[in-house]
Amino acid sequence: MTMQRPAVTYQDHWKTEGYDHISVTPLNPVVGAVVEGFDLSKPFVDEQVAEVKRAFLAHHVLAFHDQNISEDQHKAFGRLFGELHVHPLKHDASNDRGSDPAILDIRTTANSKYTAGGAWHADVTCDERPPSISMLLIRQIPEVGCGGDTCFANMYRAFDTLSESMQEFLRGLTAVHDGAIPYVGAYNTTPPPGGYPRHEHPVIVRHPETGRELLYVNPGFTSHIKGLTKFESESLLAMLYHHVEKRLDIQCRVSYRPNTLVMWDNRCLQHQAAWDYFPYSRSGARVSVIGHRPTRDV
Ligand code: SIN
Repeated sequence: MTMQRPAVTYQDHWKTEGYDHISVTPLNPVVGAVVEGFDLSKPFVDEQVAEVKRAFLAHHVLAFHDQNISEDQHKAFGRLFGELHVHPLKHDASNDRGSDPAILDIRTTANSKYTAGGAWHADVTCDERPPSISMLLIRQIPEVGCGGDTCFANMYRAFDTLSESMQEFLRGLTAVHDGAIPYVGAYNTTPPPGGYPRHEHPVIVRHPETGRELLYVNPGFTSHIKGLTKFESESLLAMLYHHVEKRLDIQCRVSYRPNTLVMWDNRCLQHQAAWDYFPYSRSGARVSVIGHRPTRDV
């Protein structure tokens, strides 16, 4: 089987010049990097933060190992990038063990019925303004010492590797994103009185900072594409999801140590948590930043 070559090369947005205040080691040329020389428990130096922001736009997901930080330091790092997001599951305290509205508890044990984010998705795309960035701090890795990676897929490249005819067709479409799909359908939680958020977003959007087009539907939240028959919508979404899943050349896997913080660009990535460590446990906390309304405009 042959794989279509991408229309653009990673050099288009992969900044190769050096960093003076942090060190950045790519996981591959397409998505993901490990950052060293940045201790989130210490005061930030402006030049370091500027370099982290540059690396983030270039690599889309950054891993910072050995970050033994408090919840306040975790949130302070998030606030460097914008206002903190409150997850829709926070409407009911029984959904989440943490009391801080800006901190989402992430915990999977032998008694869990599911692992959060265990299917390909982008975070909370049911919101009118979904998170721009999520920052997951894994404090406890599985007792067995391995497993529990997060897998990421680059949605710029998912778009770039479609045919021009398909790209043009998708540009005219709008999809519905419904929080009930994961939060009721998969997690079996009770919705708030008005229901979980449900919003429409273009199928192809532009990243607000890079201006690049990217594919913006995901199996976690997208219920259907407007204006198509049910069969057409399901078939088209199935093709797009298969396209993302099968292309190892647009993906990476990030591995954790105790106290690894991983931040990802939720505007241009999908991710999936690998639950390969049952019956062991993995836990941590996520902070997210409120993003813009996804749009085709720049
Ligand atoms: C999530 O979807 O935020 C969870 C990711 C993970 O636990 O690896």
